[in-house]
Amino acid sequence: MGKNSIVVGCQWGDEGKGKIVDLLASEVDIVARFQGGANAGHTIRVDDKKYVFHLIPSGILHENKVCCIGNGVVLDPFGLKEEIDVLTSQGIDYSNRLAISGAANMVLPYHKLIDAIQEKARGTSSIGTTKRGIGPAYIDKVARHGIRVVDLFAPERLRKRLDYQLKIKAQYLEGSDDERADLDRTYDELLGLVDLFKPLVRDVSRFLYESDKAGKTILFEGAQGVLLDVDLGTYPFATSSNTTSGGCLTGLGIGPNMIDTVVGVVKAYTTRVGAGPFPTELIDDTGEKLRAKGDEYGATTGRPRRCGWLDLVALRHAVRVNGVESIAITKLDVLDGLDEVKVCTEYDLNGESLSEVPLDMAELFHVKPVYKTLAGWDGTCTAKTSFDDLPENAQKYLRYVADDLGVEIKIVSTGAKRDETIICQ
Ligand code: IMP
Repeated sequence: MGKNSIVVGCQWGDEGKGKIVDLLASEVDIVARFQGGANAGHTIRVDDKKYVFHLIPSGILHENKVCCIGNGVVLDPFGLKEEIDVLTSQGIDYSNRLAISGAANMVLPYHKLIDAIQEKARGTSSIGTTKRGIGPAYIDKVARHGIRVVDLFAPERLRKRLDYQLKIKAQYLEGSDDERADLDRTYDELLGLVDLFKPLVRDVSRFLYESDKAGKTILFEGAQGVLLDVDLGTYPFATSSNTTSGGCLTGLGIGPNMIDTVVGVVKAYTTRVGAGPFPTELIDDTGEKLRAKGDEYGATTGRPRRCGWLDLVALRHAVRVNGVESIAITKLDVLDGLDEVKVCTEYDLNGESLSEVPLDMAELFHVKPVYKTLAGWDGTCTAKTSFDDLPENAQKYLRYVADDLGVEIKIVSTGAKRDETIICQ
């Protein structure tokens, strides 16, 4: 691995970034999260314990690693407290190891209420958001009336900003009997977090700059995936942040010269949770098999994920817009036992062949995937720790994908546990 690397999801999220970041975290000093919020759900299994983090970077399970939450994250302070409580109950010492940017905007209970109301109003065009208040919080940030972490320490300003919310969000909050609309309550509860947050809040941008200068290594942890990027994904069926490597710079306040390499995480097939186009979706037995075997249910919402074949057209886009140099392929074991494995190499749009995603992503609703069919494999990939021990056809599958994308394979994950992994270089 280069000194400092960005790890990004190359599909619609849920690629297994949590496990990959957890693995790579052992090689670095700092793990820093740059966008998204508690819509993410990063699952890590260590021994027989399963951890799901929504906000805290996946490096927290390694002793001595510092984990940062950048200004680009929308931070649910109550959700973060719950995650901190889990750490405490598990005896994981996070003191001096968790740093939160004071410039991060907060997701407050009313954002979640508004998220739910807006989703309902969208009717049949709903996005299928996680209802974690992500969109409404980013809207407030860009509209410049968001409430930031630093506001916690200025109670008068906090009160004023909350009062202003009542004015501008009257259509959602006035007369509501939902407790999330009660801003007096939110104010009191926020003040109750001040002591917990005070020692954690830092100038993350400066901390990273100084750490880099001092020779420390940093892993930048992305959440969601490129196809959910608000600019480069399947808009409007997207999240509200830049999930791609560009988001890392603004989301942490760092310069491009701090990045040495970009690692893309690619699931060996494709999944998507929520609405929106998905050209290689399988609405058949194979799709069901992938869901069951891959345990494809959302880590944040528990919703069943839509499943389909690997999509090289979409992955070419992911590699290009992120500057991906190497990939980590996850869940290869889930493809064990299939007679054949398909890979989408092109889209057919009304007779026109496309090798790249169309400019208007809405056309993804209408494209037909063109597949290359590769032979499945006898034997299993499960828990293999060496590339050479993989069934030959599994090796061919991986090489086919890497050659097409022009990237190196860095890691292959062959099971959920930390040690069910092949490190390729
Ligand atoms: P939001 O980010 O909650 O606004 O949701 C917008 C879209 O992104 C929905 O389709 C969600 O299902 C999807 N999404 C958000 N976060 C994740 C994630 O971490 N993994 C997979 N999908 C996600």
